[in-house]
Amino acid sequence: MGHRVRKAVFPVGGLGTRFLPATKVMPKEMLTVVDKPLIQYAVEEAAAAGCEHFVFVTARGKGALEDHFDAAPDLERQLEEKHKDEALDAVRKYLPKTGQISYVRQTNPLGLGHAVWCARHIVGNEPFAVLLPDDLILADIPCLKQMADVYETVGGHLVASEDVPRAHTQRYGILDVETDDGKLAKAKGLVEKPKPEDAPSTLSIIGRYILDPVVFTPLDKGVRGAGNEIQLTDAMAVTMSMVPFHGLRFVGKRFDCGDKVGFVEANVAFALKRPDMEAQVRAALKTLLA
Ligand code: G1P
Repeated sequence: MGHRVRKAVFPVGGLGTRFLPATKVMPKEMLTVVDKPLIQYAVEEAAAAGCEHFVFVTARGKGALEDHFDAAPDLERQLEEKHKDEALDAVRKYLPKTGQISYVRQTNPLGLGHAVWCARHIVGNEPFAVLLPDDLILADIPCLKQMADVYETVGGHLVASEDVPRAHTQRYGILDVETDDGKLAKAKGLVEKPKPEDAPSTLSIIGRYILDPVVFTPLDKGVRGAGNEIQLTDAMAVTMSMVPFHGLRFVGKRFDCGDKVGFVEANVAFALKRPDMEAQVRAALKTLLA
């Protein structure tokens, strides 16, 4: 099937006001979970799903992101001289090859749909992934890989989905479900951030998408939706008559790292998954909670 996903788009233009002052001079995507910035988790996930081209939609003040994905000759030379092999490996091994990353500026923060639209010329006319680094997913099989495998058969638009408490529907895009086998749900409609009483279901969109390029057609028009923003959810909704739309209940645990509590929780969960840290973190938590 011609449904291979080669390109991944990372909307990284957001301000990160919820984490001020940490994000005053540092992009929110550089916030660290254990010892890696959020953006690195997202790029590694895309690479694990087979993506070969990474498109960052950036904005002013996001230079640290570009530097993080560039070689650091001085640092690397010093680590070499000191024979710090592990550290050297840590700063090198995640780097995509030259030419595999492109940067495009979103000059106006008009919404997620607009951010994705800014990448249209680099994406071209093929299916592509979108990853929101705020949503960090702990999984044995990386979430986007799970999706890419399913995408080979379903095509169209595919999003990662999760059931959320009805009281939280206003934080998410919500599916209007047509059929649902418990893993894969086919939707007949989508609503961005509905009030609990208006939500057609409690099945939400999590920040992983594989999209058919037809999604760019409505985005060209720049119509504003919820919160007066150009919404990706709306662009998917109006193209649902042209391509199938599915939500995949992925296997894994998702952390909302755009939220302080979620971010702290992610740090603990990821540390507990690290063989080199697990025992000590467990003991430290026990003491703290006693
Ligand atoms: C965005 C999308 C929303 C989706 C969410 C997932 O919202 O607009 O549909 O459910 O990401 O994290 P945001 O979190 O940017 O407000």
